[in-house]
Amino acid sequence: MQVVRALTELRRTVEEWRRAGARIGFVPTMGALHEGHLALVRLARARADRVVVSIYVNPTQFAPHEDFARYPRDEAGDLAKLRALAVDLAYLPAHEDMYAPDHASWVMVEGPSEGLCSLTRPHFFRGVATVVAKLFHRVRPHFAVFGEKDFQQLRVVERMVRDLDMDVEVVPHPVVREADGLALSSRNVYLSPDQRRVAPALYRTLVETARLLADGRPAAPELAAATDRLRAAGFDRVDYLELRESATLRPLERIGPAVRGRLLAAAWLGGTRLIDNVPVPPDAPGAG
Ligand code: PAF
Repeated sequence: MQVVRALTELRRTVEEWRRAGARIGFVPTMGALHEGHLALVRLARARADRVVVSIYVNPTQFAPHEDFARYPRDEAGDLAKLRALAVDLAYLPAHEDMYAPDHASWVMVEGPSEGLCSLTRPHFFRGVATVVAKLFHRVRPHFAVFGEKDFQQLRVVERMVRDLDMDVEVVPHPVVREADGLALSSRNVYLSPDQRRVAPALYRTLVETARLLADGRPAAPELAAATDRLRAAGFDRVDYLELRESATLRPLERIGPAVRGRLLAAAWLGGTRLIDNVPVPPDAPGAG
């Protein structure tokens, strides 16, 4: 596996691969790799001739009061995991190389970025869309894999790719969960043993609520009751718990016939914010 930090070297390698006709798969990450990331890498490995994984903790998607400084980092461990999956190239750009001191250009995606995580993290999708666009320009992949755990991020990236004519296929991967249902996340390491015991209630509550909403009843009372159940289970704060249309993320008051919904939530256990989502009806195919 090539470990590349310089953009010139990345460009040279990608250019050679493309000239040789290789299909390039890409998985962008912020490191602290867990089984959820590795599942995305395995999918890329199965579909591509060459696989690139980037590791870059992107400062522009964190607000000043958020966890950029303490975000988990484990470069040696991450590289060992990627080597074991036969990744061809790990790209670890330096911060100075990613953003010029007078960086002034941003990618703003409206539509799917509105509400949900933007309610409390208004800076977030501008940072994500900008860094993903920059990484796509640098890596020039034929396809890139994104996890459905960050469902709003997935829809924002899909919309950016469509609207800005980027020649990259966005491939979704279903949420990877622990045996008790907790969605894998790099931030799960922040949870105390007590919080870890409470955490699966988020997924359980989403699944129960998705079952109730599947028959087309009004969503608002069920969402309010589910929010109360999360608080009763031990969550300190619920940022949102909402029913949206799966494809566009427009708000839904209820599930109509042939409408695919997505139930999305963000909730806090102490200083740790967990997000999760499920399809509605529950058996609808994930990315639908
Ligand atoms: O999902 C993530 O890890 C990040 O938001 C991403 C896509 C790597 C952009 O920094």
